[in-house]
Amino acid sequence: MDISNLNKIFFEKYNNRNEKPVIFFSPGRVNLIGEHTDYNGGFVFPCAINYGTYLVIRKTEDPIIRFSTLNFNEDSSVALPAEGLFVNTGQKWINYPLGVMNEFIARGAVLPGMDLLFSGDIPNGAGLSSSASIEMVTAVALNELLDQQLDMLELVKMSQRAENHFVGMNCGIMDQFAVGFGSKDHAIALDCDTLEYKNVPLILGGHSLIIANTNKRRGLTDSKYNERRAECESAVELLQTYRPLRNLGELDSNDIPALGKFIDDAVIRKRAHHVITENARVKEAVKVLMDNDLRRFGELMTESHDSLRDDYEVTGFELDTLAGEAIKLPGVLGSRMTGAGFGGCTVSIVESGSVDQFISELGRVYFEKTGLKADFYRPLIGDGARMIYPG
Ligand code: GLA
Repeated sequence: MDISNLNKIFFEKYNNRNEKPVIFFSPGRVNLIGEHTDYNGGFVFPCAINYGTYLVIRKTEDPIIRFSTLNFNEDSSVALPAEGLFVNTGQKWINYPLGVMNEFIARGAVLPGMDLLFSGDIPNGAGLSSSASIEMVTAVALNELLDQQLDMLELVKMSQRAENHFVGMNCGIMDQFAVGFGSKDHAIALDCDTLEYKNVPLILGGHSLIIANTNKRRGLTDSKYNERRAECESAVELLQTYRPLRNLGELDSNDIPALGKFIDDAVIRKRAHHVITENARVKEAVKVLMDNDLRRFGELMTESHDSLRDDYEVTGFELDTLAGEAIKLPGVLGSRMTGAGFGGCTVSIVESGSVDQFISELGRVYFEKTGLKADFYRPLIGDGARMIYPG
C-alpha cells in the first residue's frame, strides 16, 4: 500500500491539511496448526502475514469519532459518550474499533475526537483474522496517540476482550496474539494457557506457503463456534470424576482411554479427542520444523485437517474438497483448513516449482466439484502490529 496515497485519500475525506495523521499497520494471520485448541488452554502455531489493515488516524478538537474505510462504501461518525462507554452499533464493522476504544475508556483513558481511515486487504470472514487485525491496529494506534504505554500483551488482551464482550464472538487469544506478536519469517509457538511463546524460524527450504480461499459464505460460524466451546466445557465437567481438570489442554494421549470411560456422549467424546490429538500434533510440528523435517510437518497438517473434519466437525464440503484435492497434487506436503472453519481458507505447503500447477489444477477441480472459484494467496511472513509512519 502506497502511504502517500493513503494520506491523500485521508485529506480528501477529512480536509484540514495542517493536522498531519499518523499511520499504523496490523497484519492478518495464518494458523499453521493447532486449531480450536486456544480456548482449551492448548498450543497453537500461527504466523503473521503481509496482508493486513492500515489505519490513518489523528486527533481532532470535535467531540466526534469519524470512521471511514476503503473496503466498503460506509462512512460513520459516533459522538464521544459524555460519560461511560460506547454502545454496540448493530451489525456495523465499526464495532471492532469501538470495542477497543471502550477498553481504553475502561482503563481510565480520556478519548479525544478522532478521524480514522481504515484500509485492508485481508479477505473478510476467510479465517485470516481480519477482525483481530482491525482491533489490534486500533489498539496500537490509541496506545500511541493517547500515550498509554501499554505493552503488547495488554493490547492483545484488550482486543480479545473487545471481541468477546462488545462484538459478541467468544474467541480465544490466538488471533490477537499472532497479529500483535508476529515476527518476520517466524511462526509463533504459543502455549495459550501460560501465554509463554517462542518464535520459530519458518524455513521452508524450496517450498511455499499457499493460502486458498473457498469463498464459501460462512453463515453460522459464530453460533457453531460458541457451541464447540460449550461442548469442550462439558467434556471438562464430565472428566472431573476422572481427575481434577481446568481445561482439555491439560490432557495428553495417555488420557485418551479415559474419554471412553467418563464421557458417554459420543459427540462430546470426539471433541475432546480432537483437542488432545491436535495438541500433540502442534508439539510435534514445532519440533519437526526446527529439525527441518518438512515432510512430517506436512503430514501433521493433513492429519489436523482430518481430525477437524471427523472429530471436531468444523470443515464442510468446500474445505474438505479444497484440502483433499490439494494433497493429491504433485509437490504438496500437506494441506489443512485454517482458522475457525465452516468455510474460509486452507493453508498448504507446496514445492515452489509446483505452485503454478497447484493453483491452476486445484482451482479447476475445486470449481468442477463446488461451482465456486477459489482465490489463492502466497503470503510473506511479516511483523506484528506497529506504527509505520512516521516510523
Ligand atoms: C478463530 C478464533 C481463534 C481460534 C480459531 C480456531 O480464529 O478467533 O481464537 O479459536 O478460530 O483455532
